[in-house]
Amino acid sequence: MASYNLLLLPGDGIGPEVMAGVETVLAALRETGIARFETETDLVGGAAIDRHGKPLADETLERAKAADAILLGAVGGPKWNGVAYDIRPEAGLLRLRKDLALFANLRPAICYPALADASALKRELVEGLDIMIVRELTGGVYFGEPKEITVQADGSKRAVDTQVYTTGEIERIAHVAFDLARKRSGRVASAEKNNVMKSGVLWKEVVTQVHAEHYADVALEHVLADNCAMQLVRRPKQFDVLVTDNLFGDVLSDVAAMLTGSLGMLPSASLGAAGDGGMRRALYEPVHGSAPDIAGADKANPIAMIGSLAMCLRYSFGLGEAADLLDGAITDTLAAGTRTADIAADGAGAVGTKAMAEAIAAAVRARAA
Ligand code: NAD
Ligand code: IPM
Ligand code: MN
Repeated sequence: MASYNLLLLPGDGIGPEVMAGVETVLAALRETGIARFETETDLVGGAAIDRHGKPLADETLERAKAADAILLGAVGGPKWNGVAYDIRPEAGLLRLRKDLALFANLRPAICYPALADASALKRELVEGLDIMIVRELTGGVYFGEPKEITVQADGSKRAVDTQVYTTGEIERIAHVAFDLARKRSGRVASAEKNNVMKSGVLWKEVVTQVHAEHYADVALEHVLADNCAMQLVRRPKQFDVLVTDNLFGDVLSDVAAMLTGSLGMLPSASLGAAGDGGMRRALYEPVHGSAPDIAGADKANPIAMIGSLAMCLRYSFGLGEAADLLDGAITDTLAAGTRTADIAADGAGAVGTKAMAEAIAAAVRARAA
């Protein structure tokens, strides 16, 4: 039986609660005999600051490099508001993404049939929605230099963030988007702001060129990022694969999350380039954050985290059937009416994080029986 080594980084806030849901589901998956899953757990974010004085210890980074895949809960929270910028909790996650070269962040926004009425939008706008946001994750304004606040001669301050993209960075994310589109509906929309930003001009130029040279069979549309945000709310089903930069991808994926009913529904896969053995470095993380407002209250929806495990089975381990089994178990659980508060009508009859994870684990066992 194949054996996989998973590094679990629960992090802060609701991170440990939703990661406990992963362990509940892993126990059920192990029983099916699909594969052997070994887990190790380590600290990241605020939890690592409390222990090591920094949000990602070097040993943790080494463990991450050695693991077959990494699952991360969430980082950050008000407790660490006062720590120095360079060692804030979020810097730990950004270092993991950058040092592991996880440049492609896939954020699928799927409206489960049972949740069509949980969206902030009308049922007919979101029913059947299935968008794949492809967010560039290791470039752009997140990492461009200079990035600083300086004091001017008159004592006032000046803050600078730098948006940088190179041809190579845009080419590789464009390939990811077009390759995915070929396995889906064959349509890509590329969002940037070439009307304002030089990086947007280059983005559009490179995406156009990659398309013309390699993907004439895929339909490509360019859309300005602000219009894209509006179109996502106006008529979301016009999109299939949506490729965009790091910052626009961050914002547009939170918008897309609400189409599905809740930020607690969106999983993601952060992927590196395929290595020699075909195995690529990868980290799986929900799109949501540490949700300090509900942390510790057994209220968080674990589906984004558990869905991230399903993506791990599919993208890192090639266990497509197991991933389908787990996605199916989530569908069954929602169809049976099980809801955490964020997706329940008026919060009525909601179950907690633990009960939702147990219901999904039970659905895994039922499907596997
Ligand atoms: P957030 O995503 O943590 O929460 C936004 C809102 O969505 C809150 O009302 C929260 O209760 C709700 N929510 C989020 N996840 C949920 C879930 N699984 N179930 C039910 N409701 C859920 O965003 P924020 O409040 O802006 O940020 C809080 C902290 O999290 C900040 O420190 C931020 O930097 C960090 N953050 C981390 C990540 C990450 O680790 N990947 C992502 C986003 C934000
Ligand atoms: C996300 C988060 C992160 C980001 C933060 C916590 C660094 O918002 O994964 O969407 O901005 O990328
Ligand atoms: Mn975000």
